[in-house]
Amino acid sequence: MVIIDHEKCIGCGVCAEDCLAFNIEIGEKARIKKECIQCGHCVAVCPAAAVSIPEYDMKDIEEYDAESFCLQPEQVLHSIKFRRSVRDYKEKEVKSSDLELLVQAGRYTATAKNSQSNGFIFVQKELIQLKHMVWEYIDEIEKQEGKAAGRDMLPYFSFNRRRKADLKDDFLFRNAPVVLFITSDYLLDAGLAAQNIETMAVSVGLGVLYNGYLARIADANEKLKKWLGIEDKAIRACMLLGYPMRHYVRTAPRKEPDVIWK
Ligand SMILES: Cc1cc2nc3c(=O)[nH]c(=O)nc-3n(C[C@H](O)[C@H](O)[C@H](O)COP(=O)(O)O)c2cc1C
Repeated sequence: MVIIDHEKCIGCGVCAEDCLAFNIEIGEKARIKKECIQCGHCVAVCPAAAVSIPEYDMKDIEEYDAESFCLQPEQVLHSIKFRRSVRDYKEKEVKSSDLELLVQAGRYTATAKNSQSNGFIFVQKELIQLKHMVWEYIDEIEKQEGKAAGRDMLPYFSFNRRRKADLKDDFLFRNAPVVLFITSDYLLDAGLAAQNIETMAVSVGLGVLYNGYLARIADANEKLKKWLGIEDKAIRACMLLGYPMRHYVRTAPRKEPDVIWK
């Protein structure tokens, strides 16, 4: 429940103006009408820091600092243009401080109805076990079902054959040191978090690959999901992470934008 500290509230009404649910009444002071989705706009907009939501850790709240916020539009576009899918990684452990920044980038992403249902599973230390379980699952399907497994499985069978011929030729894991799975109630929520995580990853010198193949096969593997502790959740996105082997020296070409201006 949103709490207004009436000692601090100056009755300015900004929280009510910004409330998407029209859930705040302004008299001499602000007053909350009923339960809400706890989006936290009232906390973020109040000039007197009079609003809190005890369900969250309020010590986490930061004050906006215009001095240190100096990202220019051309810098943002530059980082978008020069982001690349990275498929070759250095054999180097990813620092946990870098991974913690990625968690924060995912956590602060918008979610539908403020559901905040995204979960982030980083696998680095136990990556060998993860790989083993994924390949074992693919092996089992091939043994039990063979061609009857359907067209969707054929690429996995082919990746597995390649890997068996040369353990370094791993089309699924690309020898990346970290695999991140994002679980969510909503596909788009996971996608948005993934994009913010990628932007943050690039800023600390990491490279990322969205891995649709791994996301699909991991989501289908109940034993793996149990091992990951997410048996009742849907894997919506999978990202490989690591320090990139190559540096791209120019942008990649793109189609003309499909835009309608009216
Ligand atoms: C949802 C999604 C899934 C993807 N899955 C894979 C994948 O399984 N394997 C792969 O090599 N690339 C994958 N990609 C990367 C795309 O091939 C890549 O974004 C595209 O070729 C453009 O290259 P760029 O990202 O360097 O601009 C995926 C991208 C997205 C957005």
